[in-house]
Amino acid sequence: MDAKTSIRVIIIRMLIIFLFLSSSYTMVVAKPNDVVPRANGFAVPKSNAFGQSFRDYEASVRLSIVENTYRLNHINQTYDFLKYAKLNKAEMSIWEAIELLDSFVDESDPDLDEPQIQHLLQSAEAIRKDYPNEDWLHLTALIHDLGKVLFHSKFGSLPQWAVVGDTQPVGCAFDELIVYHKYFKENPDYNNPAYNTKLGIYSEGCGLENVLMSWGHDDYMYLVAKANGTALPSATLFTIRYHSFYPLHKKGAYQYLMNEEDRENMKWVQKFNKYDLYSKSSVRIDVEKVKPYYESLIKKYFPEKLRW
Ligand SMILES: [Fe+2]
Ligand SMILES: [Fe+2]
Repeated sequence: MDAKTSIRVIIIRMLIIFLFLSSSYTMVVAKPNDVVPRANGFAVPKSNAFGQSFRDYEASVRLSIVENTYRLNHINQTYDFLKYAKLNKAEMSIWEAIELLDSFVDESDPDLDEPQIQHLLQSAEAIRKDYPNEDWLHLTALIHDLGKVLFHSKFGSLPQWAVVGDTQPVGCAFDELIVYHKYFKENPDYNNPAYNTKLGIYSEGCGLENVLMSWGHDDYMYLVAKANGTALPSATLFTIRYHSFYPLHKKGAYQYLMNEEDRENMKWVQKFNKYDLYSKSSVRIDVEKVKPYYESLIKKYFPEKLRW
């Protein structure tokens, strides 16, 4: 190779490196609305921790526990069911709440019976693989189920049916697409003409913000994050609030209650769902190893102590 050819080869190599670096840079500065998952990121497994399909309510080995939780949920979640909206139960940091959840298993979940701290870290680590630069998404995943502290004695030791499971609107008819719909027949609202029509007390397109949902960990954590002035974006708050609203985000029920803003935000809930559902695994994450990273995010987006 003569000197001229060598120079040409060096210039071409430098050009290739420049092009590669500039494409990576575009990812770093992308706005929340444009973010795309990394190509070789989180791989969706074919089966859940028990070797079965995800959310298969007929085949789940946890069937009787799951069905009973839904039976009680559908009978007791009424328009008048007491709401725990006051944040006067405790003062603690986000990480203290995570540790409080360590001993709880979600009995509405057909896919996992690992302690909740593992579910939080597994979903956060999975979304981090696909969106390495979007730290707000990592934290969204980490805190999305923190409302499950409602199980704890400090928070009234609420029963499983009042904390977990899919959520649905109250104040209007229970859509037939809701899992275990048959149990609503024993719910007092089922025969109440004020609440058992398609729109009930609502109007077409009124917006989800004006719709009362069945009570559980979703609404509670949304309240906690909002009232404590989190710096996380509105996409996080919406995702936390509606991540269990499977009748809508998976099956398309109740779309007539949404407004334009809800339709936009729902895209985030659907993106997030993949990591909430498919990251569940019996392979545990080493808590101490990842804790410093998540503590730095908590510091960035939350006050040190929060009202719960
Ligand atoms: Fe959840
Ligand atoms: Fe979850």
